[in-house]
Amino acid sequence: MQKLVIHGGKPLCGEINISGAKNAALPTLCASLLTNDTLKLRNVPDLKDVSTMLSLLKQMGVSILANDQSETELSAVHLTNPTAPYEMVKTMRAAILVLGPLLAHKGEAMISLPGGCAIGLRPVDQHIKGLQAMGAEIMIEHGYIHAKAKKLTGTRIVMDIVTVTGTENLMMAASLASGVTILENAAREPEIVDLAQCLIKMGAKIEGAGTDIITIQGVKALHGCTHDVMPDRIETGTFLTAVTASSGEIHLKGVRADTLDAVIDKLLEAGAIINSGENWIHLNMNKPPKSVNLRTAPYPAFPTDMQAQFMVLNSVADGTAIITETIFENRFMHVQELKRMNANITVEGNTAIVHGIPRLDGAGVMATDLRASASLVIAGLIAQGETVIDRIYHLDRGYERIEEKLSQLGAQIERIN
Ligand code: UD1
Repeated sequence: MQKLVIHGGKPLCGEINISGAKNAALPTLCASLLTNDTLKLRNVPDLKDVSTMLSLLKQMGVSILANDQSETELSAVHLTNPTAPYEMVKTMRAAILVLGPLLAHKGEAMISLPGGCAIGLRPVDQHIKGLQAMGAEIMIEHGYIHAKAKKLTGTRIVMDIVTVTGTENLMMAASLASGVTILENAAREPEIVDLAQCLIKMGAKIEGAGTDIITIQGVKALHGCTHDVMPDRIETGTFLTAVTASSGEIHLKGVRADTLDAVIDKLLEAGAIINSGENWIHLNMNKPPKSVNLRTAPYPAFPTDMQAQFMVLNSVADGTAIITETIFENRFMHVQELKRMNANITVEGNTAIVHGIPRLDGAGVMATDLRASASLVIAGLIAQGETVIDRIYHLDRGYERIEEKLSQLGAQIERIN
């Protein structure tokens, strides 16, 4: 098993490019299931979750042509097996995103139920409820969702909970339904807007993506298109937080600052000086950070995917911070690991109280999930001495060439077997 070895304590300084967004690439790859034409996606990040999704689509019969590292062409014309097996779904819950498109275009889908995951229960009841409202017949058999529909019918769907992949699944399904679908209490994440833009280029009629009411007028068929996946706002936020925690300076290219308002506000509060333009962000931190309270909530509020990274920032900040996690019930697993590095954190229910200390100590730690891994990398980069992070396969699910990018910023980081 691979590990990362980090010698920390140096400010991170330099310039890097941000990759395409994992959470935008995954649904747009699934959009290929909605048409018999070829869908060409650019700026696709080279990540484990992306290769898992490509393997899943391939075993269904989708032909895939990867032109280079970031350009992928997909054609579902010869799709034969509309099944997502447990072995794949258990490693990547986003596999549920094939459900809506398969049902809408092929009339049938067999998708393994995802089950629990490290950060919480994460049910898919809203995906199922929405598809049933559109006329799908859904049975749960032997751990699989077996869904059938001759033709989905548009309807009004009020979601009980704001769900990102739930909104994406229903938006894709509704694109080929007959009549109008109105999704209320929809998620507003930028990745939903990115998917809607791709679907619109494919011929879908969608209005309101990015608001909590999305209206989709179903069409008979969708066609191919070329789409550029948006920049990864969580990768961007992770680098900005790492540099703030290390009191360094960074210039990021290929980014969208407008998707990061809540994160940037908190970094400014911590003391960072930030400037941004159309596709760049510059951050300079010339003093130790101040503590910042935060509460995670659906977009445009502070993202749960940035909570762990801000826990580390607060660990070495001046003051005490209160962090409240409202999206996932078990997303504080990094706390035990950070405590091994001397962080002073107390957890009560869904709240963590972080008392800042001058510096963390390097230690051997274990990654437990994707964003927790990122927080441990930041901790290692600012800690005194050596940090060895085990189980970094979590990190490879969502960060492209992370050690290479960090090395560009002057970090001493090495992957070992
Ligand atoms: C997506 C992101 C993930 C991010 C999360 C929250 C992708 C591929 N992943 O995950 O990185 O952390 O949004 O911003 O885009 N829920 C239900 N029933 C459902 C669906 C969800 O109760 O049918 C609950 C979940 O358990 C969770 C909350 O709703 O507590 C939000 O989950 P959701 O937005 O669905 O997360 P994902 O789409 O899985």
